[in-house]
Amino acid sequence: MAAKMEVPFFRAELGQAEKDEVLKVIDSGWLTSGRACQELERAAAAYLGRAHGVAVNNGTAALHLALLTSGVQPGQGVLVPTHTFAATAEAVIYIGAVPILCEVDPVTLNLDLDYAARLLADPSNHPLARRGQKLPLIAAILPVHYAGLMVDMERVAALAAEHNLQVVEDAAHTFGAYRLGAGGRRIGVGDLSGAAALSFYATKNVTTGEGGMVLTDDAKRAERLLVLRLHGLDKSAYRRFERGASWRVDILELGYKYNLADINAALALPQVARADALWQRRREAAAAYSGQLAGIPGLGLPNDALATAAAGGPGQMAGHSWCLYPVRLGPLAKVGRDQCLTELAQRGVASLVHWQPLHLHPFYAARGYRPGDFPAAEQAFAGLMSLPFFAGLRPAEIEYVAACMREVLAP
Ligand SMILES: Cc1ncc(COP(=O)(O)O)c(C=O)c1O
Repeated sequence: MAAKMEVPFFRAELGQAEKDEVLKVIDSGWLTSGRACQELERAAAAYLGRAHGVAVNNGTAALHLALLTSGVQPGQGVLVPTHTFAATAEAVIYIGAVPILCEVDPVTLNLDLDYAARLLADPSNHPLARRGQKLPLIAAILPVHYAGLMVDMERVAALAAEHNLQVVEDAAHTFGAYRLGAGGRRIGVGDLSGAAALSFYATKNVTTGEGGMVLTDDAKRAERLLVLRLHGLDKSAYRRFERGASWRVDILELGYKYNLADINAALALPQVARADALWQRRREAAAAYSGQLAGIPGLGLPNDALATAAAGGPGQMAGHSWCLYPVRLGPLAKVGRDQCLTELAQRGVASLVHWQPLHLHPFYAARGYRPGDFPAAEQAFAGLMSLPFFAGLRPAEIEYVAACMREVLAP
């Protein structure tokens, strides 16, 4: 075994270009949302093929505003996979709507679209309905592209058309990801939905430290998003200082203090410019891990044969954005997930779990969910862990983590 190393879960890849952009903002004297924010909106939307990007101060705010402008009304239901981060369902509750938790595919951990189709055909199939709760009218579907693997958005769009649903995408993990659709067409984030929410949180593929963005092709919606992200005002401070602009500003509706500061936005400008290269390094790190972790008994990898088949074949894996590298300990693994995490930590390797399914949290138990409601999600969670993963992961770090995994899991 190699000498002990410390491998962090994440290390930001920020260099001179990022420092220069931040200094430019400081030197400009304009610290709140302004030029850098607008540049980031233009650059990210252009890279991702969307007409509009509206930057906000985190991905949760992006989800909130995407839902607020979706047409979903308070009291209506939104389908949310139980395997997701707190923010996805939380944002549904922010607008007064009701997250209706759903089962996930046992391999990809993305929303199980067969389950969603059955539920839409007959909501009495839902565990809450079986226990006597009356489900609200289902008005929207909120797919999450887990770890960077896109949900089959063509199927989501077909379900939405059949059942008159709004579609909002949780694209926190999917900067640049795509999926091949009918005829080999590349489907990116926001192509087949009204709006997609990005996160620029510290560990994401492109980061502003904290930040997010709503992507949409709808000009009217983008205009309303701009108003909502800043107190419902018809003009931002930056626009009030434009040449010839008036000081006057009107409050149009209830808004929020969700604008992204220029210092944060500036950090992401060089990352968007080299997003292809950053993505390629993530692909290479994922391939290196998979090569070195192959063959450990009971260990499932996010790009092994089973996962690739579940994704729809190698062509679909090509569009994976590799935000996370989650592995799964199955029944044949020598130790359980928690022991594996502990033993990795003892060897200096930081790993995490993404995530405990929502329905197993006290907040959702209080809303009527029970263990056993979504068996595929629960079974996956029992063995799920994310290894250190970021674009700048060094070959020696990958080798060390893989050697530790072998040591911990060797029969
Ligand atoms: C799937 C998912 N959705 C939403 C969010 C929320 O993003 P943020 O932390 O930027 O608010 C996260 C954050 O990690 C996430 O992983």
